[in-house]
Amino acid sequence: MRVCVIGTGYVGLVSGACLAELGHHVVCVDVDPVKIEKLKNGVMPIYEPGLEELVLRNARSGRLSFTTDVAEGVSDAEVISLGVGTPSADDGSVDMSYFDAAAASIAPYLQDGAVVADKSTVPVGTAERIETMIRSMTSAKIDVVSNPEFLKEGFAVYDFLNPARVIIGSASERATDVMVHLYAYLDCPKIVMDRRSAELTKYAANAFLATKISFINEIAHLAEEVGADVESVSKGIGSDPRIGKEFLRAGPGWGGSCFPKDVRAIVYLADQHEHPMPIIRAAQAMSVRARQRIIERLERAIDSLEGKKIGVLGVAFKQNTDDTRESPAVDLIAFLRDRGAHVQVYDPIARLTGAQMGDRVTHVVDPYEAANQAHAMLIATEWDEFRALDLARIKSAMVGDLIVDARNMVRAEDAAHHGFRHIRVGRK
Ligand code: NAD
Ligand code: UGA
Repeated sequence: MRVCVIGTGYVGLVSGACLAELGHHVVCVDVDPVKIEKLKNGVMPIYEPGLEELVLRNARSGRLSFTTDVAEGVSDAEVISLGVGTPSADDGSVDMSYFDAAAASIAPYLQDGAVVADKSTVPVGTAERIETMIRSMTSAKIDVVSNPEFLKEGFAVYDFLNPARVIIGSASERATDVMVHLYAYLDCPKIVMDRRSAELTKYAANAFLATKISFINEIAHLAEEVGADVESVSKGIGSDPRIGKEFLRAGPGWGGSCFPKDVRAIVYLADQHEHPMPIIRAAQAMSVRARQRIIERLERAIDSLEGKKIGVLGVAFKQNTDDTRESPAVDLIAFLRDRGAHVQVYDPIARLTGAQMGDRVTHVVDPYEAANQAHAMLIATEWDEFRALDLARIKSAMVGDLIVDARNMVRAEDAAHHGFRHIRVGRK
């Protein structure tokens, strides 16, 4: 099939490359000329394992191309997938300006029979609204479907090609058939429903996963008080298939470009309908509390943070990504800075943005430089390489003896063996 993907961010670029891999002819469009130029030259604008190989292979085969020209991408496309950003507005609602602009930009070039698929995470009612808007701008017969995406950054290519399900929210049998055909080679259930339900499914999925993490963080804090170990508890409850193993890792609360904004959006939606959301609001509060608690435990262990040097390992909101949007690590660094600490930060891939940097924060090139003269180390992101730290080298570089392990990466016995005091989440 001929497909056009609008927006070449984490979702758009991965979807475009994966749809090409499935045999479709895909044109990816973005308003950012720098991004498109890079992609044309085979340079990835984001870090995502496996993506470069996939993009290069499909570009070489002629099934994947990049342009800033909307007409070139849209005019003979059977499916146009909208994957632009939908960030939070200041009041917690969704800023739809990018999405609406993208939808308007394609309208003049749509051919009869084209299906516009909302892949971005958008408020309930968007597909209907966008369909009305586009139909008012063109005489072409088009349908709009909701087709939310469930991939995780860091595992995006794998997740796109191996989804648990594909959700198709549709009001037209013809459009449903087109979408089922688009995903025919994905071996998973294609769940068809009405558009509003599909849109709410996406928010409900993210809110549920975020709540699950907040739940285990609440249990972790209790485990710290009563002398239990949350990792054993996670294993114990997760082996019940009704609960499930995934998303039971305690830590500094959830972050990233999606959970925080999508949870704000569902709470905002509920407010609009004067519908209380006590569980999801509590999950939000617990995510903030999880970060604060880590800093409080660190501060108690070294008396005061004022003037102290803290080495922080990790900036990305989780492993295998360069994304620092609403990263727990960035919040932890800000807390440390606000309490007067000097922070030496290392991350294998991600970098703090100018706005995230602030005074008394420096980026260093390896974990051992982050440890240089440090009073404490804080592991903020679960990069695999932090499991294999040379603890003797870390210890000899430091002036202190404390590891605050916000991701439970270092084995307690190893930390003790090297003479560290070791604070873990969910363990006394
Ligand atoms: P992103 O910020 O990485 O990328 C968005 C891209 O859209 C940018 O390259 C931007 O230049 C481009 N863009 C903006 N306006 C445009 C326009 N009018 N025409 C063409 N391109 C335009 O965003 P993302 O992380 O890929 O997220 C996109 C959407 O997918 C969001 O709604 C998000 O909630 C959802 N989502 C994201 C993930 C994820 O893991 N990041 C997973 C599932 C769903
Ligand atoms: C999340 C969802 O998992 C995807 O299904 C969804 O498509 C995506 O949001 C989205 O809508 O954009 P992502 O944000 O990439 O994906 O990353 P996750 O792996 O879900 O992690 C989110 C946050 O939760 C991270 O800060 C991570 O460290 C934290 N987390 C995750 C935990 O603290 N514990 C866990 O057990 C799992």
